[in-house]
Amino acid sequence: MIEKDPITGVETTGHVWDDNIQEFHNPLPRWWLWTFYATVVFAIIYWVIYPSWPVGSTFIKGINTITYQTDAGEEVTSHWNTRALLARDMQTGKSAMAQKAYLNEIAATSYDDIAKDADKLAFVESYGNGVFGEYCAACHQSGAGGVVGEYPNLIDDDWLWGGAPHEIETTLKIGRIGFMPAYEETFNDAQLTQVANYVLSMSGEKSDPALAAAGEEIFHGQTGGCHYCHTNEGTGLKSQGAANLTDKIWTIADVRGAETDEQRLERVKSVIHNGVNRVMPAWSSRLSDTEIKVLTAYLLNKRAGGQ
Ligand code: HEC
Ligand code: HEC
Repeated sequence: MIEKDPITGVETTGHVWDDNIQEFHNPLPRWWLWTFYATVVFAIIYWVIYPSWPVGSTFIKGINTITYQTDAGEEVTSHWNTRALLARDMQTGKSAMAQKAYLNEIAATSYDDIAKDADKLAFVESYGNGVFGEYCAACHQSGAGGVVGEYPNLIDDDWLWGGAPHEIETTLKIGRIGFMPAYEETFNDAQLTQVANYVLSMSGEKSDPALAAAGEEIFHGQTGGCHYCHTNEGTGLKSQGAANLTDKIWTIADVRGAETDEQRLERVKSVIHNGVNRVMPAWSSRLSDTEIKVLTAYLLNKRAGGQ
C-alpha cells in the first residue's frame, strides 16, 4: 500500500523515526535518468573505439585505427591517437596539401619568374622564414645579417662563393669551407704590418704608403702567395671563397667596427696571422632540392630588398 504524507501529499517509503519523522520517496525525473543511461552507453562505445583505460603499464587501445606516413615515407597503421592524427594532418591536411602544391609550383618555376610573382614571393617569404629560422639562423642570425668574423652576412650583396642562383644553391647543397693559411710562422711582425697596410690601402682605408708598398711586394710574392687566392688585383676568387679585399666590405676582419687606426691595422694583421678556417655545413641530406630552392629564392629576395 502506498502511504502518503498527509500535509504535502508526497509518497513516503513507510519508514518512520521518532514517531513522526518520515522518509519521502522522490524518484529522479525520467529525462534525467535517460540522459544518465545515455552517457553510460556513450562511454562504453567510446571505450571500444578509442584508447581509454590504463591497464598495467599499457592501456586499452580501442578498435579504431589511423593510417599515416612516417617522415621516411613508410605507411603506418596504428591505433587511433592524436599524434598520428597530427602526423596525418601535416601530410594530407588542407594546409599541408596547399603547401605541397606551392612547393611543386616553386620547383617548376625559374628564379626570374618567382621574383616577378607576388603570390610565389609571399610563399617563399613565409616558408623560407620558417626553414631559415630552423636551420640557418643559429649561425647567420634571424635577419641573415651574420656576425663579422664568424658567419657571413647573406643580405649585403657581397658573396664569397658567388651570388648567382646556381652558386647559392651549390653553397647550400655541398657546403663550403672558407680556408686561408695562418701566416704566424711565415712572417714576422714587421712583414705582417707591411702586408696589412697594403690590404688596408686596397679598400681606401688609411695606410702608410711606404709600408703598403713593401706589403704589395709580399702580397704578390711567392712566400705569401696571397695573390693565388685573392688574385693580383685583390678582388678575390669565388672558387676559393677568397674575400674581395678591394670592396670595403669586411667579413672576417672587423675593420668597420674598429675605433682607431691602430685597431684597424691590428684586426687585419690578426686575420693574416691566424688564418681562417670556417665551415658552412652541407644541407643536401637534410633539405629537399625544393626547400633549397625556396631558401635560395628567399635570400635573393632579401638581397633585392624584400622583407
Ligand atoms: C654552423 C653554422 C652555419 C649554419 C647552421 C649555416 N651556415 Fe651558412 N655559412 C656558415 C659559414 C661559417 C659560412 C662561411 C664559409 C666561408 O667562410 O666560406 C657560411 C656561408 C654561407 C653562404 C655563402 C655566403 C657567401 O658569401 O658566399 C650562404 C649562401 C649560406 N651560408 C647560407 C646558409 C643557409 C641558407 C643556411 C641554412 C640552411 C646556413 N647557411 C646554415 C655557417 C653556417
Ligand atoms: C688559400 C687561399 C688564400 C691565401 C693564400 C690567402 N688568403 Fe686571405 N682569405 C682567403 C679566404 C678563403 C678568405 C675569406 C674567408 C672567409 O670569409 O671565410 C680570406 C680572407 C682574408 C682577409 C679578410 C677579409 C675580410 O673581408 O675580412 C684578409 C685581410 C686576407 N684574406 C688577407 C690575405 C693576405 C694578406 C694573404 C697573403 C699573406 C692571404 N690573405 C692569403 C684565402 C686565402
